Amino acid sequence: MLYLIGLGLYDERDISLKGIEILKTADEIYAENYTNFYHGNLKNLEEIAGRNKHITILKRNEIESGEILYKNALLKDIALLVPGDPMFATTHSSIILDAEKRKIKVKIIHSSSIYSAIAETGLMTYKFGRTTTIAFPYKDTIPSSPYKIFMENFERNLHTLMLLDIDLENNKFLSINRGLEILLKLEEDAKEDIVRKATFVCCARLGSDDALIKAVKGTDAEKILNFDFGEPPHCIIAAANLHFIEEEMLARFY
Ligand SMILES: C[S@@+](CC[C@H](N)C(=O)[O-])C[C@H]1O[C@@H](n2cnc3c(N)ncnc32)[C@H](O)[C@@H]1O
Repeated sequence: MLYLIGLGLYDERDISLKGIEILKTADEIYAENYTNFYHGNLKNLEEIAGRNKHITILKRNEIESGEILYKNALLKDIALLVPGDPMFATTHSSIILDAEKRKIKVKIIHSSSIYSAIAETGLMTYKFGRTTTIAFPYKDTIPSSPYKIFMENFERNLHTLMLLDIDLENNKFLSINRGLEILLKLEEDAKEDIVRKATFVCCARLGSDDALIKAVKGTDAEKILNFDFGEPPHCIIAAANLHFIEEEMLARFY
């Protein structure tokens, strides 16, 4: 059996009890740490798992090829730990499909995720459109798809969750400040006028003890470009028209 176990939003206290029970009986435990900044200590989870268990961190190519995970999974219980919820990362669908082709049974253990944590802002989750990721500019090229998705969602009066790129191998992350700067630049090039009409809800370290949510009207977005949001992970929500309850919830974060 192959278990995909969510580590949850922030640190080692976010894994579920179900996840811990499986760690205690699993024959081999692996973890991936390239889809998010994980602030937990895997050593503590090894101790909780007991019986001198060791958690091996796999590189991106090792997860994508999957061979290490599938090798013994027909006979043994293999666990793969994934930051957040295991199903909110596209790679993990491929793992399920590949494993099932090899007749390996897969079980998912869900956990807290950025996709549910954004509800803490007060924005209604059913009013979100397509999610996008603001990527690191490559040389002088800034990918424009986040702006296009923001515009499409905004025109349909839907909010946009903008994830921010991370490069864990080089310990780099795109901050909220840089993300907003990129959006302002893309708007300048597109010559549309939507940033001014939106509300930006900036979220840092949701689920941690020092989580930070800061809302800003699009007209004031430039004023927070130097605000210190602290450690990653960060994301931005571009909110469309607000329901009065959303307004009241967001008023706590300006
Ligand atoms: C590719 S997603 C992975 C999502 C993860 N599987 C989950 O279910 O939460 C990673 C991105 O989500 C955002 N993110 C994840 N956790 C966050 C948190 N606690 N606070 C703010 N943003 C977060 C960041 O933009 C980060 O780069």
